[in-house]
Amino acid sequence: MSLEPDALSADNHRTCTPTQRRGGAFIERQGRTLIDFSANDYLGLSTHPELAQVMAEAALEYGTGSTGSRLVSGDRAITHHLEAELAASMGAESALVFNSGYQMNVSLIPAIVGKGDLVIADKFVHASLIDGIRLSGAKLLRYRHNDMGHLEARLQSAKHSFSRVLIVTESVFSMEGDSAPISELIALKSMYNCELLIDEAHAWGVFGPNGMGLIAKEGVQNQCDYITATFGKSAGSAGAFVACSKERKNQLINTCRGFIYSTALPLPVIAVNRAALTKIKSMNCERETLIQTADQIRNTLSTAGFQTRGNSPIIPIILGENRTVLEAQSKLALAGCNVIAMRPPTVPDGEARLRIVITTHHTQAHIQTLIEAL
Ligand SMILES: Cc1ncc(COP(=O)(O)O)c(C=O)c1O
Repeated sequence: MSLEPDALSADNHRTCTPTQRRGGAFIERQGRTLIDFSANDYLGLSTHPELAQVMAEAALEYGTGSTGSRLVSGDRAITHHLEAELAASMGAESALVFNSGYQMNVSLIPAIVGKGDLVIADKFVHASLIDGIRLSGAKLLRYRHNDMGHLEARLQSAKHSFSRVLIVTESVFSMEGDSAPISELIALKSMYNCELLIDEAHAWGVFGPNGMGLIAKEGVQNQCDYITATFGKSAGSAGAFVACSKERKNQLINTCRGFIYSTALPLPVIAVNRAALTKIKSMNCERETLIQTADQIRNTLSTAGFQTRGNSPIIPIILGENRTVLEAQSKLALAGCNVIAMRPPTVPDGEARLRIVITTHHTQAHIQTLIEAL
């Protein structure tokens, strides 16, 4: 079955034209229009007409490019406004904008730690964090996913050998859809006097007061040294930021190679990120519905015997073998649903899975189509 955009039911809150909607809940694959359950566009902002308008107007006002690195010609008042708004929204002293989450993570970590230091990271952290740690030259130890006992054992055994230790985790894990125990991480960080970096890529926009993430939900922003997030997911745009102290920001500006040696984001992207931040903060109602809908789907699937995980709009269904998950992906595509099969090394061996992502674009009709197809 292949759904056309006009099949959108009335309960979709969007009022875009059909062309705009096509990019929202739908995706073109091999000449067919499928309902998309793969995009990280949790709040549907990538096709929001007001944001598209902001971007178009900003392109006419500022031009299309930033013309250079922030340290050369790419620094403008609008970027400082965005950083001030992010800092205030995150309850942090300051914020620094990067071109993407990947670029930020690979350059941020080498600016924090180096040879002779230790990084202890959750076993399931994103490739960009691992690449940043490798690039830093620091020693890397992993702890079992969300296992605070294992993290503490690692901290205990390392405390006399390393003067600088950085704990790295995500708050919502991209392949598991589950969340890290933030308050326990904060407690361990302060007990062992080390630094903590939490990547909120998949939580920012979705959780916490005004969507400002799981750390804000716990009210411990000023106890986490580096809070990072990307505009590529809930904001529906591009770019990323770290929220941290003023002192740390100043140090990053002068040491982060990905910040220093790359052309800054186009100013229309900065403009749309400011508008997306305002929009995200106003969407508490949509966030609540999104989480409830994802929980209901998870319950329906586990009642039907599927092995699901998580507590976020990311719903993995663990199928085990690569062949099984690829067959499931093809079956879903034939039924009109685009769901991506995630296989090792992106996920652990023997844990190949379908990764279903629910967004505010999805209607009950879309979800029904997915559940029937599974
Ligand atoms: C946890 C995490 N951090 C960082 C990134 C990279 O962000 P970006 O897509 O903005 O490069 C991703 C992307 O999937 C991610 O899942």
